[in-house]
Amino acid sequence: EKGGYKHFMHKEIWEQPRAIADTLRGRMLLSEGDVHFDTWNLAAEQVKSFTKVTILACGTSWHSGVAGKHMIESLARLPVEVELASEFRYRDPIVEKSHLVIAISQSGETADTLGAFKEAKRLGAHTLAICNVIGSAMTRESDLHILTNAGPEIGVASTKAFTTQLVTLYLLAVKLGRMRGTLSVEAAQEHLTQLTQVPKMIEDVLKCEPQVKRVAREFMNAQDFLFLGRGPMHPVALEGALKLKEISYIHAEGYAGGEMKHGPIALIDEKMPVVVLAPKHPHVAYEKIIGNIEEVRARGGKVIAVIDEDDAQADSLADHVIRIPAASALLAPVVATIPLQLLAYHVAEMRGNDVDQPRNLAKSVTVE
Ligand code: F6R
Repeated sequence: EKGGYKHFMHKEIWEQPRAIADTLRGRMLLSEGDVHFDTWNLAAEQVKSFTKVTILACGTSWHSGVAGKHMIESLARLPVEVELASEFRYRDPIVEKSHLVIAISQSGETADTLGAFKEAKRLGAHTLAICNVIGSAMTRESDLHILTNAGPEIGVASTKAFTTQLVTLYLLAVKLGRMRGTLSVEAAQEHLTQLTQVPKMIEDVLKCEPQVKRVAREFMNAQDFLFLGRGPMHPVALEGALKLKEISYIHAEGYAGGEMKHGPIALIDEKMPVVVLAPKHPHVAYEKIIGNIEEVRARGGKVIAVIDEDDAQADSLADHVIRIPAASALLAPVVATIPLQLLAYHVAEMRGNDVDQPRNLAKSVTVE
């Protein structure tokens, strides 16, 4: 059932064009500039009355929440807080009836997320669950749920669940923006048009695999990795580092580029590979991230830059480049995640690790 792949994770990485197409199917109303979720039950008045969104999640799903914050704040102009579910539960959180609380979970069963979600509901918030598993606990506990439609994810390290969460959050941001009147029909149409191109873009970016394998071979014995990204690319850096840790057992950290000089720069020496997410957008502070590349190089660190395919400037600065198709600032996280998944996969595979069943990890964390 691995369809010719050695591991489920590899198969699931390659399934992403199809998974994302399934997430989008039937939900984009291009001519109306609107989004349709068949479960949707919120009236415009209610959506307009929301004063805040709180996103609750763990692990990879928390990373998609951080990217979702950028989407919802930018399109629906609602303040969004992204909380680690395990912290939220135990800290007397501020929850009001005017808050929309969103749980993001592949399994829909993660104990910490479910516990935090129930607490938010008890305190009177309106609750929305974004899950991949139909009929899971969170979909049953919520006032409203939206499925990510990625299909079953078997590999313990989450891949297609993450990118389909990103796309679902994008759809949700468009929906909220339309209902709140912060997004015009034309602007929504533009966002939806971009979304229709994502499956094809993922197909294109998967072609970077041979290049990623070369990078994996060169750095498979590194002891540490640093991942840097700014704005919507920051959660991608966090996710790249988490994937590598989980399955290769190499220590890795994800950082917002601007934080580098506040500490992690001390780690950089000629043994340190630094993956820099540098698609060309003002929103991801392209010029500043180029500055980060120069800072790493000046200290002998090895830069692996993920860049737009037509970017000659970053190309000339980095030791290795991985080219991705140019995408809008809010979609670049979806596209740029793919090479990082492949990097983690190939490093782990070259090290002979059990990729689908990494040590100490469970697919669904149903204990606290
Ligand atoms: C990462 C991973 C975990 C999960 C986390 C939340 O690859 O698999 O970090 O993302 O345990 O799981 P869900 O999304 O099922 O709530």
